[in-house]
Amino acid sequence: MRVVQITDTHLFGDARVALLKLNTQDSFEKVMDLVIRNETSIDVVLGTGDIAQDASPEAYLRFAQAMQSLKAPFYWIPGNHDRRQVMESLSPWEHAFTNLVTLGKWQIIMLDSSVMGEVYGCLNDRELQGLEKSLQAVQQHSEVEHVLVCLHHNPVEGSAAWMAGIGLHNNEEFLAVIDRFTCVRAVLYGHLHQELDFQRKGVRYLCTPSTCIQFKPEVQDFMLDDVNPAYRWLNLLPDGRIESEVVRVTGYVFEVDHTSTRY
Ligand SMILES: [Fe+2]
Repeated sequence: MRVVQITDTHLFGDARVALLKLNTQDSFEKVMDLVIRNETSIDVVLGTGDIAQDASPEAYLRFAQAMQSLKAPFYWIPGNHDRRQVMESLSPWEHAFTNLVTLGKWQIIMLDSSVMGEVYGCLNDRELQGLEKSLQAVQQHSEVEHVLVCLHHNPVEGSAAWMAGIGLHNNEEFLAVIDRFTCVRAVLYGHLHQELDFQRKGVRYLCTPSTCIQFKPEVQDFMLDDVNPAYRWLNLLPDGRIESEVVRVTGYVFEVDHTSTRY
């Protein structure tokens, strides 16, 4: 099963607007060109939040229309810049807002970690209980064996000092649920605008770069990175293994505002 993850597109209602000097529509289109060139057969596309910078219907519509060119179903979850209500009611894409996607032996669980008006994330009782119920259902039914959990916010703290506090606030509760179920193979997220791939208690944690600006890891204060925008592909294998790579735009230099102290 071939999954493509596109995250943190930060599109504006007005496609001419830039984020820290970088036109997010332009960089999104360059990443989409790359996806179209590289990916011949996609089973599902996951948009893991910060789809829009300004939560405008126009930005969501442009994202959804671009997804159509990939000829695969897409599903999305909100990030800190998004508005759940706008995404949920965007016609004719209401079906893209869902908690569960079944792909062969795999269950993909989509969680909403957004908190209205806040940069940090939190999984409310409904999301946490839904996660637990979905994992119990997988353990009890043999047709689905492996789980990929998706959310926008990082459940493990980022490596830059300024990132303290912007991740998932109730990450301990979330990780306690993940740790209780042996069917979870990976947790997939965005938010940190950088590539991460590590193991924790037998579960793989994958963070994917944004399609626009990148955050430099392991620094004290906010700093943009020079690496190019990207997407991630994942092969979900029937035996529970995951092959995955981040693919970056090449041959193009994006201009960004390196003097900025926040985004
Ligand atoms: Fe973001």
